[in-house]
Amino acid sequence: MSLIEKINRVFPQNSDIPTGLQQGIPFSQTGYLINGEIRQWEGPQHHVLSPVWVNIDGVPEPFPIGSYPLLTEKEALEALDAAVSAYDHGRGAWPTLSVAERIHHMERFVFRMLEQKERIVQLLMWEVGKSLKDSIKEFDRTICYIKDTMNALKDLDRISSRFAIEEGIIGQIRRAPMGVVLCMGPFNYPLNETLTTLIPALIMGNTVILKPPKHGALLYAPLLDVFCDVFPKGVINIIYGEGHSIIPPLMRSGSIHVLALIGNSSTANILKKLHPKPNRLRCVLGLEAKNPAIVLKDADLDLAVQECLLGCLSFNGQRCTALKILFVASAIQDEFLKRLVSAVNKLCFGMPWQEDVFITPVAEKGKTDYLQGLVADAIAKGAAVINEAGGTVNGSFFFPAVLYPVHERMRVYHEEQFGPVIPVLPFNDIKEPIEYMIHSVYGQQVSIFGKDPDQIAQLIDPLVNQVCRVNINSQCQRGPDIFPFTGRKDSAEGTLSVSDALRVFSIRTLVAAKQTQMNKDIITGIVRNHQSQFLATDFIL
Ligand code: G3H
Repeated sequence: MSLIEKINRVFPQNSDIPTGLQQGIPFSQTGYLINGEIRQWEGPQHHVLSPVWVNIDGVPEPFPIGSYPLLTEKEALEALDAAVSAYDHGRGAWPTLSVAERIHHMERFVFRMLEQKERIVQLLMWEVGKSLKDSIKEFDRTICYIKDTMNALKDLDRISSRFAIEEGIIGQIRRAPMGVVLCMGPFNYPLNETLTTLIPALIMGNTVILKPPKHGALLYAPLLDVFCDVFPKGVINIIYGEGHSIIPPLMRSGSIHVLALIGNSSTANILKKLHPKPNRLRCVLGLEAKNPAIVLKDADLDLAVQECLLGCLSFNGQRCTALKILFVASAIQDEFLKRLVSAVNKLCFGMPWQEDVFITPVAEKGKTDYLQGLVADAIAKGAAVINEAGGTVNGSFFFPAVLYPVHERMRVYHEEQFGPVIPVLPFNDIKEPIEYMIHSVYGQQVSIFGKDPDQIAQLIDPLVNQVCRVNINSQCQRGPDIFPFTGRKDSAEGTLSVSDALRVFSIRTLVAAKQTQMNKDIITGIVRNHQSQFLATDFIL
């Protein structure tokens, strides 16, 4: 069968879908969580179509997998009221609970979340088209992240469980919550990236309103009960709906203290401006990126091709950290392209449940049209698709396209494609990729491929000031999660990592007293009698 024929037959018949994966699909979700209650919604629903289409009488059709509530401003403001009351100006039960007790709640949450693994993974796969293997990985990575977060908080608390005495002043310094946090995650890691802000926000004592992403909302249904049972009422509120109708009223209220958004900079900028007191708003943003790879002429080509392939096409290029433009030294461009094209066309493509599948349908509606538009623009301006069947579309499936040679007048040179299009540019002078990075509106990461320590060293020093991670002979990536994950320019605001996230969702605050006998007696009395959660020297073991 030719490649084009295989692409044309990429979608399964209903009967080809493993029965286990069809269980409970379609799934109509009506619950949402406000003030410790799972309320039932009887209004309009958003109907969810999977990126996985199904072949009906030879014609691929979108596959309905369920629906979720389209709440309104009213319910959004009820969620806000619940979060504001639970925080109660920092006097609520949750923000004043001891760190050890908050960790205890989180342990129960992990235990209950693990019980829902199979269902969450199944919904994740259906909703965003991520391979089953990678959906499982996303779940497991999230559990690890939560466990690491608990351990990092224990460490932080241990360090803070002591007094400092400086210039005759006794002080105890701890991190305290910020207030009400609005969390919104992206569709590409709807569980993991959302929880990498939600969990630290909660564990630091904030109260939270969570709006799951448009694609990747159903998978929160199995967690509603868990959140409801484990956390005190109002501490976590989960609302669903169109972002543009339910989020602006929250921001306009002025009652959101932290905006945690993994999404795009235009949304972030609009939302930030809606807050009536921007100085009271902290933002933790993970935004767009256009990470380049620079392949030097002495690069190990097998390694460079392998890493560029993973970097460009893991989860179909739908990662903020994906390599989105490849600069290749002219001296090796022919050999690099030959190997790249061959590797791309050997990739296994198909449905998410297939063993070893790598390329799957793209998640967003209209995405294949957008990608075709990018490719057509590049072709009109002198590039070619150099791999067989590159850019072939069947329904929501887009076969990866290697575009060469790309130049700055093409849209794909500037726009974040967030999909399986690989733009390649030859360069003669190393200044060319560096200039690209200087003028890019993004500044997340870069990958350099080469062997010469002198040349790599000369690149590291200018590039660390353009981006926030320089990867040597490997693709760009977020992990390991203990490493700082951030970006410059329009790529991020704030830094996330297991320990940094605890910091961004909290503020340092201290109790201080002159070292007089009276003050010493007061402090000793409070500590000895365990009268305060803050002024305490308890050591979490
Ligand atoms: O979409 C952006 C993610 O943070 C990327 O994470 O590098 O682990 O795929 P990753």
